[in-house]
Amino acid sequence: MTFPIHRPRRLRRTEALRGLVRETRLTTSGLVYPMFACPGKNVRTEVSSMPGIYQQSVDQIVEECREVADLGIPAVILFGLPEHKDELASEAYDANGAVQRSIEAIRKAKLDLIVLTDVCLCEYTSHGHCGVIKGEEVLNDPSLVLLADAALSHARAGADIVAPSDMMDGRVAAIRQKLDENGFENVAILSYAAKYSSGFYGPFREAAQSVPRFGDRRSYQMDPANAREALREVALDLEEGADMIMVKPAMPYLDVIQRVREKLDVPVAAYNVSGEYAMVKAAVQRGWLDEKRVVLEILTGIQRAGAEIILTYHAKDVARWLKAC
Ligand code: PBG
Repeated sequence: MTFPIHRPRRLRRTEALRGLVRETRLTTSGLVYPMFACPGKNVRTEVSSMPGIYQQSVDQIVEECREVADLGIPAVILFGLPEHKDELASEAYDANGAVQRSIEAIRKAKLDLIVLTDVCLCEYTSHGHCGVIKGEEVLNDPSLVLLADAALSHARAGADIVAPSDMMDGRVAAIRQKLDENGFENVAILSYAAKYSSGFYGPFREAAQSVPRFGDRRSYQMDPANAREALREVALDLEEGADMIMVKPAMPYLDVIQRVREKLDVPVAAYNVSGEYAMVKAAVQRGWLDEKRVVLEILTGIQRAGAEIILTYHAKDVARWLKAC
């Protein structure tokens, strides 16, 4: 006999009781805030499909980083926009690129922030693909050299963690080797190990101006139907030397986060991507959803699935809400 002996509602009676038995406690300490660095001075252009998110020049990046640090958010991840795009993504590994200069400026300002960088070529190539191309084919091995050069340039500028998001095979090993050869054995790698070919990157591609000029990314990013393959991708990246791994996007892939968390004993990150953010913002603007409630619910769900690190454009709002609790 269960009822009336067992009454689960007993422990839901008050907020204090609910707090006492809560299984998942969302905290600011696991959040990473994504930012878009662009050339110029005093530039701050809002991304139309991502309200509250800006393309910003280095001076503005530093100002917002100050705010991020003051909110107790431990980390930012930087994406870059180049002055010029070309076939070989030259500005991706240019010491004077917007990302490299942003890192230096954040370091100079002595902000208490972990600086991550996205390592990819798509923002920097004239064709918008994440690797070098021959005809319409995205070549794997020749792309590795450029990706490793990009990671090295970020390390030289002072990045703590580099995060390759290109999905070329072997890029973690190539980056690890290049970093170690140059004395950056303490720069960590967070690999976007299970990165799916997703429709939810749409707004990001507006922010980073990285829409592919032809074709799509299905020959290198993962098929949304596959979860077992994610475990294989993660295992390969760990063998190659990744310190942490990421599942991306988050909401449609909570099962993947959970499986990875259960199978492997490494820190797991999840990227709550641009389209997930845009969807919430659009509904909130129409008065259809309560922003604070749904964002905290979404992030709690991502953490409950098994991610201890969450990259999210909501990070500043969440930090403010959690402070007020
Ligand atoms: C670069 C990259 C992308 C995202 C992160 N790194 C876009 C893509 O693969 O097209 C997406 C992030 C987001 O949507 O918020 N390869």
